[in-house]
Amino acid sequence: MALLEISGLRKSYGSQVVLDIAEFRLEAGSQTVLAGPSGSGKSTLLSVIAGLLRPEAGSVRLCGDELYALPEAARDRFRARHLGVLFQDAALLNSCTALENVTLAQSFAGKPDKARAEQLLGHLGLGDRLGHFPSQLSPGQRQRVALARSLVNRPSLLLADEPTAALDPASAKRSLEMIRSACSEDGCALLIISHDPRLTGGDLPVLQLGDFNRAGLSVE
Ligand SMILES: Nc1ncnc2c1ncn2[C@@H]1O[C@H](COP(=O)(O)OP(=O)(O)OP(=O)(O)O)[C@@H](O)[C@H]1O
Ligand SMILES: [Mg+2]
Repeated sequence: MALLEISGLRKSYGSQVVLDIAEFRLEAGSQTVLAGPSGSGKSTLLSVIAGLLRPEAGSVRLCGDELYALPEAARDRFRARHLGVLFQDAALLNSCTALENVTLAQSFAGKPDKARAEQLLGHLGLGDRLGHFPSQLSPGQRQRVALARSLVNRPSLLLADEPTAALDPASAKRSLEMIRSACSEDGCALLIISHDPRLTGGDLPVLQLGDFNRAGLSVE
């Protein structure tokens, strides 16, 4: 059984069909880049996989569960336990410290474990920044807090939307290596959305959304 199995997926905004995907699968522990032009539906697909955007039709099975058959509260819990999501801007809570941002994610999943949160932040080089607020951290440090938050519950899949777009080349390379090794260590699969050539030109397998999204054919 694949980690993620999508079939017959259709998602529109008004009369614009954005996603029309017959089949899409990700294997457990795999690392993949999903590329495609701006407006082709990458972030929309990520939101559907994250359980945040219900499609009109189709099946989205993650870890053996039919995502959109779960009632909303159960889907929120399922997301907290099985999925990590990393956005381009770290989207941290500004009134919470680095450590609190991470422990909050644990409480959503019903898995409080402060020692694990501290250890993960320490592993990402933030051991001396636990009590700092986001405004007291550099952009790269904030991104590492967000990475710790997305991985703290040992998800099966990490979804990352343009994680390196705002970073300079050296930071982007470091950040990508950190994301990839953190996922490998935990056996977490990784799906990165990007058209950053620094990612698409590397050794990660790259899928073009337009190759399997039939709605993408009409995108200019
Ligand atoms: N909430 C929304 N309401 C209406 N249309 C939307 C909405 N969100 C996205 N769209 C449209 O759906 C299409 C796909 O958008 P999406 O954000 O998924 O593209 P993307 O591939 O992630 O683009 P980018 O690379 O610029 O981030 C676009 O034409 C966009 O205008
Ligand atoms: Mg996008």
